[in-house]
Amino acid sequence: MFNDSGGKWYIVFCILTFKLYTVSFATKRFFILMTMKNDFDQYAAEYDAWFLKNKNVLYSELKLVAHFLKNAGETLSVGCGSGLFEMLLQQEYNITVKYGIEPSKAMAEIADKRGMTVRIETAEDGDFGQNQYDTILFNGTPGYIKDLQKAFNKAYQALRKGGRIVVIDVPKESSYALLYNLAKVLGTWDHSLLEGVQPQDPYPIEFVKAANWRTTTEKTNLLLEAGFSDFAYAQTLTKHPVYSDDTLEEPMEGFDCGDYVAICAYKK
Ligand SMILES: C[S@@+](CC[C@H](N)C(=O)[O-])C[C@H]1O[C@@H](n2cnc3c(N)ncnc32)[C@H](O)[C@@H]1O
Repeated sequence: MFNDSGGKWYIVFCILTFKLYTVSFATKRFFILMTMKNDFDQYAAEYDAWFLKNKNVLYSELKLVAHFLKNAGETLSVGCGSGLFEMLLQQEYNITVKYGIEPSKAMAEIADKRGMTVRIETAEDGDFGQNQYDTILFNGTPGYIKDLQKAFNKAYQALRKGGRIVVIDVPKESSYALLYNLAKVLGTWDHSLLEGVQPQDPYPIEFVKAANWRTTTEKTNLLLEAGFSDFAYAQTLTKHPVYSDDTLEEPMEGFDCGDYVAICAYKK
C-alpha cells in the first residue's frame, strides 16, 4: 500500500505536522503557565520594600486594620500576601492572624516564614471551609479578586454565627484610586500629567496595572448580597496622596474622605 513514493511522503508529512503541532502546543502551554504567575510573584520583594519606604502610610493603614480586629478569635486573611500586616498586628497589638490564603507562591513563602499557615490558592478557587472562623480579613485584596461576590459568599459560609468580615481597600472614588487609574491608563508614573501630584515613592506600576478598585458602595452591596449585616466603616489616609506619608493618622469613623477604607460586617 505504501510502496508508491507519494504515499511515503504523505506519511512523513503527517508525522512532521503532528510533531510540530505537539511542540507548538507544549510551547504555548509553557507560555500560558509562565504568564499565569501573578504580578505579586514577580515583584514580591518590591511589595514589602515599598511599604518600608512609606512608613507613615504603612502604620496609618496598620492602625485601621487593627481597629476592627479587637477580640478577632480564629482569623483567616484572604490574600495575606507576605504577611507583613499580620506580623505587625502580632508585634504591635497582640492580634493573631494565623491562617492565610494567597495565590502568589513567592508572597506565601514569606508569610509562611513569618509564622502563618498559608494555602496557595485564589479566593475564587480556594476552599475557605464551613463555620470555621470568627473573623475573615480582606486587606488590600478586593481590587485584585475578579469574582468578589464569590469570595464574599464563601467567607459568609466559612464564618461562625456572630463572626465578622473586615474588608479593607482603596475605594475607587478616593484620590488615590483616581490617581492610580490615571497612571494605569497612561501605563507609567513617568508622565507630565502626574508630575507634582504623585507621592515621592508611588505604588509600583505593576501592582497599579493589575488592580480593579471598586467603590465602597459596590463592596457594601456585594456584602449585603452575601448575607452580611450590621455595617460599620472606618477610614485613614485622608490627605492628598502627595502628603499621605508625611504624618501618621488615627482611623476615623466613616468612608467619605479616606483613601483606605475598612468595612466591617457580621454574619447574624
Ligand atoms: C495589595 S496585596 C495585599 C497583601 C496583604 N493583604 C497586605 O495587605 O499586605 C494584594 C494581594 O492579593 C493577592 N491576590 C491577587 N489575586 C487574588 C485572588 N484572586 N484571590 C486572593 N488573593 C489574590 C496578591 O497575590 C497579593 O498578595
